[in-house]
Amino acid sequence: MNAFRSIEFLDEGIVRMLDQRKLPHETIYNDYLTYEEVAQAIQDMVIRGAPAIGAAAAYGMALTAHNTGCETRDALISELATASEALARSRPTAVNLFWALDRMNKRIADPSLGSVSALQKATLAESHAIAKEDVAINKAIGMNALPLIPDKATIIHHCNTGSLATVDYGTALGVIRTAHEDGKKVFALLDETRPRLQGGRLSAYELKEQGIPFKVIVDGASGHFMRTLGVDLCVVGTDRVAANGDVANKIGTYNLAVVAYENGVPFYVAAPTTTIDMATKHGDEIEIEERPASEITHVRECQITPDGVEVGNPAFDVTPTKYITAIITEKGVVYPPFDENLVALMDAD
Ligand code: MRU
Repeated sequence: MNAFRSIEFLDEGIVRMLDQRKLPHETIYNDYLTYEEVAQAIQDMVIRGAPAIGAAAAYGMALTAHNTGCETRDALISELATASEALARSRPTAVNLFWALDRMNKRIADPSLGSVSALQKATLAESHAIAKEDVAINKAIGMNALPLIPDKATIIHHCNTGSLATVDYGTALGVIRTAHEDGKKVFALLDETRPRLQGGRLSAYELKEQGIPFKVIVDGASGHFMRTLGVDLCVVGTDRVAANGDVANKIGTYNLAVVAYENGVPFYVAAPTTTIDMATKHGDEIEIEERPASEITHVRECQITPDGVEVGNPAFDVTPTKYITAIITEKGVVYPPFDENLVALMDAD
C-alpha cells in the first residue's frame, strides 16, 4: 500500500480525492459533496486514469444518495439518474466510467431496495466493492505478468498507470512494481507524456516513493533508447480495449508501439477486464477526447507558443492489434488473434 490513495469516501458524506494536478510538489486533498463537483473533478483531471475515473463515478453516485434531500425512493432514483447522466458526460474515452455507472445503475434498479435508506446503503456498498475489487484486480495483473518479465529488464512505460490512475497499486506500473517486489532487477524508462506530463510528474513520483529505479525520458526518445540501450519490453495501460483488440490509450502510445514493433521489442498492454469493451467492435468506434488548447500552449501558467496558434490536442490514440504482443488481464494473458481470444477470456469465470 502507498501512503496516499487516489480517492476515498468519508462516512460523513464526502468524496476525497488527491489533487493529481498539483503533484509532485504539493499534496493536496479536495473534498466533494455533490455529483456535479465530482463530475467537474473528473473533467478537470483532479483524478484521472481509467480505473480511478470509474471508482470516482461510482462514489459520485453513492455520494448523491448519501447527501440527498429526497424523501421517497422514486424521487431518489430520479436524482440518481440525473447524477449518472452528468457523470457520464465528464470524459468520453475511458470505458471504466461507463462500466462503473452501468454497474451502479443495475444495483439501483433492484426492486428490493424499497426505501431511501436501502438505496443509500446499497450504493455505498457497491461503490466500495468497485474500489476494493480494483486493487485486487491490479495485483492479479501484476502476478500474471511476472513470467513475461526477464530477471533483469529495461522497460518503457507511457503515461501514469499506477496507484494514482487506479484506486491503488496500478496496472502497467503495477506490473513493474510486482516484478520489482518479486526481486527482478527492473529499470523503467518513463515517457514524460506530453502535454499533462503524467509520466514525468506522477509515474516518477510513484516509482521514487517505491524505490524502483527509473529515468524520465521525453516521449520522442523511446526509439533512440531501443536502438542504443536495449529495451526488453514496453508496458502501457489502456482506457478502452475494443473487441478486436485495438487499444485506446494516452496520446503517444501508438507511436511507441510502432517503434517497438520496428525494433522487435514486445509491447504489452496491462488491462483490467473492466477496460475491455466488447460492445465496441474496433478502435475507430472509440470516441477520442479532444482536450483544451491551453494544455499545449501553456505549461502551467507559462505560455510557450506564439499567441493565437491553432493546436490539436487529442488526449488518446488507438494502437491497432498488429503492434500488440499481448494484453495482460487479471484473468490471464491474451495473445492474438485477439478477436477470438478476448471472447474466450470475457466468457471465462
Ligand atoms: O488522461 P488520463 O491521464 O486520464 O489518461 C490516463 C491513461 O491514458 C492511462 O494510461 C490509462 O487510463 C490506463 S490507467 C491504469
